[in-house]
Amino acid sequence: MRKKVSIIGSGNVGASAAQLLAHSGISDVVLFDVVDGIPQGKALDIAEACPLYNSSSSVKGTNSYSDTKDSDIVVITAGFPRKPGMSRDDLLHANADVVKTAATNIAKTSPDSIIIVVTNPMDVMAHLTWKTTEFSCRRVMGMGGVLDSARLRTFISYELNVSPEDIEAVVLGGHGDQMVPMPRFTTVKGISITELLKKTIIESLIQRTRNGGAEIVSLLKTGSAYYAPAAAAFQMVKSILLDEKRVLPCAAYLNGEYGMKDIYVGVPVILGKDGVERVIDLKLTKEEKLQFRESCSSVRKLIKKVIK
Ligand code: NAI
Ligand code: 2OP
Repeated sequence: MRKKVSIIGSGNVGASAAQLLAHSGISDVVLFDVVDGIPQGKALDIAEACPLYNSSSSVKGTNSYSDTKDSDIVVITAGFPRKPGMSRDDLLHANADVVKTAATNIAKTSPDSIIIVVTNPMDVMAHLTWKTTEFSCRRVMGMGGVLDSARLRTFISYELNVSPEDIEAVVLGGHGDQMVPMPRFTTVKGISITELLKKTIIESLIQRTRNGGAEIVSLLKTGSAYYAPAAAAFQMVKSILLDEKRVLPCAAYLNGEYGMKDIYVGVPVILGKDGVERVIDLKLTKEEKLQFRESCSSVRKLIKKVIK
């Protein structure tokens, strides 16, 4: 049986992720949106490129959740993106209603699916999706860390003039302004960047990573980043569908790991056919712990605002 991935929200991130999936040929794709015509038009356009990519994926656009029935994976990108001057957290209330509706429908139509939440503020929306669906926490996760670490890898590659492929980066915490990039665990072919770059340079790369989403928003002026976010979601889908067991930073439910309970926040996990198969509990220094806790408490404040 071919695998089925549904994408809720056919805007910039949703359609770009659909394109990556369909053209890789690893699954059939259903593109859903509330706006009539958009998912149908984009799906048809993506489908018409499949022969050129030698892909046999089927691509369907729809305004009906019944078409997403029995999906293996559902990616939630529905909602509103940032405008210049807005933080990810400003999107809280507008997007909570959208995500709750999506999660309720997914729980009915694809009760065995694994859900990847992209909509911002992502950690909070992942928590809300988990609460709404009542799925096992292993089957609900958020995309943020893969994107943030790809950004950090890019900026390090600019600085050192080396291929980003040879750079590994770890970013912990919420996908917000208080994310916690981890220089100690960020390496170039196994060599920690703390040995390769001055502290002040590392600090400026970390700051650029924290500001990575806003940098793109301020350039685009309408809408936010989508090529890298879609590629990050695609990497997560692929690791699950193909049971690759990649170690990727994702928003996962913590139940004691990192000394935290009952919160979705970014940590490295193993992603395989069962979803989050293991949370990797890194030993943090005192200062790293402090930053991680601060990031968690800002996520927790928002969770309290949407989950009574
Ligand atoms: P977009 O505006 O291009 O697309 C959003 C789509 O959602 C629109 O097509 C809209 O019609 C649809 N939509 C609205 N309400 C809906 C509903 N109830 N059901 C289904 N679809 C609905 O926005 P874009 O750029 O695709 O971003 C989507 C979300 O992803 C935003 O919240 C953005 O902040 C977030 N995002 C998160 C990232 C992350 O790293 N977690 C990275 C990039 C974006
Ligand atoms: C980003 O980091 C807006 O969360 C989105 O680009």
